[in-house]
Amino acid sequence: MLIKPAEEAFSPIEQTISAISPLRAAIEIRNVSMSFPGKRATVEALVDINLNIPENRFISIIGRSGCGKSTLLRIISNLLPPTKGEVRVHGLSSVEYQRRKKFGFVFQDASLFAWKTVFQNVELPLAILGAGSPAERRDKVLDLLDLVRLDAFADHYPAQLSGGMRQRVSIARALSYEPDILLMDEPFGALDDLTRKEMHNELIRIWNARGLTVVFVTHSLSEALYLSDQIVVMAPRPGRIKSIVSALNPRVSDPALRANPEYVSQMRDLEALIHEQ
Ligand SMILES: Nc1ncnc2c1ncn2[C@@H]1O[C@H](COP(=O)(O)OP(=O)(O)O)[C@@H](O)[C@H]1O
Ligand SMILES: [Mg+2]
Repeated sequence: MLIKPAEEAFSPIEQTISAISPLRAAIEIRNVSMSFPGKRATVEALVDINLNIPENRFISIIGRSGCGKSTLLRIISNLLPPTKGEVRVHGLSSVEYQRRKKFGFVFQDASLFAWKTVFQNVELPLAILGAGSPAERRDKVLDLLDLVRLDAFADHYPAQLSGGMRQRVSIARALSYEPDILLMDEPFGALDDLTRKEMHNELIRIWNARGLTVVFVTHSLSEALYLSDQIVVMAPRPGRIKSIVSALNPRVSDPALRANPEYVSQMRDLEALIHEQ
């Protein structure tokens, strides 16, 4: 069977290791529900979500529009308090965690300041926080621009960049806080197909370089399969987790994978899973 439930997804060796020392959870989502008051009825955006996201994993959340993906990311990052349940981050309440550390957040729209250069856009969060001296901030920003391969574009303005480059700026800005958790809400949804595929390999490289835990929301199955260790499939009305699937060949960062028969077949299985009632 190509799609295995999460608990069967590890190899026997991994199972032994995890029995001895369980994988440390970066994010624990416990019995989280979220309802919004509507005009006619209450919208059950999320019902009883339970999910453990281990450190340094790349997890995708997929599902149709309206199944609560963005709501779940906002709850994880404490932008929205859940109606029920709690989220713990590295064993702390998410409020306590945020006192010590920030989440990196990347949205579909790069949301850069048009009148600021690439350098200034990446520096802005650090400048607002008053983090480090100007010289230290400069070193850090140059290091981040190097990481996202935009070192030659520090003095450019957003309008002078392609969509993919703007998203790289947005990723560099999200990493300026030195987060260990990166939350991404359909970050490549507005990019053309070729740029999007390029960004997949870039993201895998950045994820490896920084040892991040990534939670990546998408409605693209192929994107989820190419990038993730595990894929959380959600269903709408009410928003809930339908299944957790392990990718067969996670993160080989090899474009040839897209034509691999097993990959194609896993994609077909996932598609069926999303469409079944
Ligand atoms: N602030 C809000 N007020 C009322 N309803 C909301 C709000 N945010 C989201 N919803 C509703 O919650 C459901 C889930 O939304 P969302 O998390 O944006 O889904 P997704 O990101 O999967 O498309 C939708 O029915 C949406 O209309
Ligand atoms: Mg959304």
